[in-house]
Parts: sequence; C-alpha cells; structure tokens
Amino acid sequence: MRKVAPIETRKSDHIKINLEEDVRSGLTSGLENYHFIHEALPELDLGQVDTSLSLFGKKLAAPILISSMTGGTEQAGEINQRLAEAAQECGVAMGVGSQRAALEEPQQIPTYAITRKVAPDVLLFANLGAVQLNYGYGIDECRRVVEMIRADALILHLNPLQEAVQAGGDTNFASLAKKIEGICIKLEKPVIIKEVGWGISERTAKILADCGVAAIDVAGAGGTSWSQVEMYRAPDEFTRQLAATFVGWGIPTADSILNVRKAVPDMKVFASGGLKDGLDIAKCIALGATLGGMAGNFLKAAAVSSEKAVDLIRLITRQIQVSMFAAGIVDLKHLEHIILKK
Ligand SMILES: Cc1cc2nc3c(=O)[nH]c(=O)nc-3n(C[C@H](O)[C@H](O)[C@H](O)COP(=O)(O)O)c2cc1C
Repeated sequence: MRKVAPIETRKSDHIKINLEEDVRSGLTSGLENYHFIHEALPELDLGQVDTSLSLFGKKLAAPILISSMTGGTEQAGEINQRLAEAAQECGVAMGVGSQRAALEEPQQIPTYAITRKVAPDVLLFANLGAVQLNYGYGIDECRRVVEMIRADALILHLNPLQEAVQAGGDTNFASLAKKIEGICIKLEKPVIIKEVGWGISERTAKILADCGVAAIDVAGAGGTSWSQVEMYRAPDEFTRQLAATFVGWGIPTADSILNVRKAVPDMKVFASGGLKDGLDIAKCIALGATLGGMAGNFLKAAAVSSEKAVDLIRLITRQIQVSMFAAGIVDLKHLEHIILKK
C-alpha cells in the first residue's frame, strides 16, 4: 500500500513547491490571442472609469479575486492573514484553501478563521473538495466550513486529474453531480464550483448548471499546473512520470470562459488560471466573466508581506482601469459588452 502524506505535510509541501519550483502549465491561458480596440479619443476622464461592482450582497472596488489557496498550517495561517488584510484594505474578494484540514484537525481552525477576523467586510469564500462528498462529507461539513469563516458562499473544487496523479489520491468521482445538487439545494449560501487549473468544458458546464450552482470559476489551464506540483512531490519515479505526462493538459482559461458562456449563457462565470495582470482580467470580463482570480501571484506577494499583496492589488486595479480607459469603456457593465479582436 502507498504511504499517504498527512494533510498538514501536504499543505506545507504545496506552498513550498509553488514558491520554489516552476510549476507552470505547458499551455497558455489563451488570453494573449485577444485584444481591445484602442480608442485614441476615449471621451472619458481616467478618474471617471469605475471598476466597482456588487456581488452576492457585497460591494467590491474591483473585479479581483484572491483565489482559494491555503490554511491548515502555521505558515498558511500567516499567508491567509496577510491576504485577508490586503483584501479588506483594497475591497476585493478572497477564497481560503480547502478547509478539510480544519474539519479533521480542529486546532487548525484559526488558520482559516483569521481571514474573517481581519476582513469583516470582504466577499469571502469557503472551500472544500467536491470529491469529499464521496468520502463521507455532506451538508453538515459544508455548513461547518461556511460558519468557520462566516463565508458569503461555498466553493467546491473539482480536481480529478490532481487526485489521479498523486499517491493515494481520492479518485472516486462517480455520481458526484447528484451530491453537488443536494448541497446546492440544502446549503443556505450560494455554491460555486471551480476547477483548479484545467478548465471547464461545455459538457461539464451544463451538468453543473443542472446541479443548481450559483457560479462557475473556470480555473483554466495556463497558470499553476497541479500535475507539475504533484510531480515535484512524487514519492517515487512511477508517480513522478505519471504526473509529468500532463504538463500540457487542460482547457485554456479563455476557451473555458467561452465554453461556459455557450453552454449556459446565464451562468455567472469567474475566470482564473494563468491571469498575469489587470489587462488579462479586463479581457476575461469582456469575454463574459464577472471576476478575475489569481492564486500563484498572490501567494508570492503574501509570502513577503501584506503590503506586497496590497501593492499587487493596487497595480492590478490600475491596470484594469487603464485598459478600460484606453478602450473607451466607462464601467464594468459596458466592459461586459465589448467585443475583443482576435
Ligand atoms: C498554493 C496553492 C494552493 C491551492 N489550493 C487550492 C485549494 O485548496 N482549493 C482550491 O479550490 N484551489 C486551490 N488552488 C488553485 C487556485 O485557486 C487556482 O485555481 C489555480 O492555482 C489557478 O490559478 P493561478 O494560475 O493564478 O495560480 C491552489 C493554488 C495554489 C497556488
């Protein structure tokens, strides 16, 4: 039988590998193929360009999401605190990483709960692996993770490939849709589904819409690749080679957004996976997303300080604003209707 690392070791491995190794996908997000039409006469004052929005009852200064990453170790708690401080100061949304560690080891609860403590006003997302619904979790666990951080919504992540290429992964994804549907019906908060870096097809988008999810975060290919992370963690050559196979796997983020839009035109879409800057976020919104998320980039900033994370959010916000200005777009409602050049 293969030895499986405890959750705490896994969480610290993830942070270390993401900070120290090149874990990028072999694919790109596809956003580099899209361009705004430059307007030399935008007929706007830059200061007028409004990047704010309301979502799930919260006001955001910009359509930026600090994507779900961590919790469950002392270092992870510190990173969560810094990210949450930055989110509160700048008025953007944030997700915590999978809270399974805290359900299994309650002494880890503060490493997640710190986020709501320092960010009382932020749009905050709880997180669990959807596959855990096939391994004994149900509505009680979903309620507990939401209450733990007083979250505004629950994200259930889908990561079949990550589970399949790691030693001892939870690989039973059979008949999961019915269970996701059950959570959507019973939970008092919206349920969001996300991938973790391989994107969403039209078929999956339709199934998720039938489950009743409130939004889909496509988390497409082009950024952090979890098969690469698992390759660096592999305990033996067999697992290393298996994980290495999938460096070029997945649906790029730009294609994933379009897939969801085509399959379920009314679905709220969040875009993440390889977004480099605010210009990429602006492109995602023009393609049909409501928020743009980044994980790896925020991890690197928060590993230094919360000030670095604030600096990054300010830069991204300004990049969105200047993109809109130079394309002659006054607010996000108009940005949603802009056609990009290919
Ligand atoms: C260190 C780290 C930990 C992550 N842990 C989680 C997690 O627990 N739950 C989850 O849904 N996604 C997790 N992700 C995936 C991200 O939320 C995101 O979907 C993915 O990394 C793509 O974004 P990026 O290319 O900007 O890094 C993690 C990402 C990183 C970098």
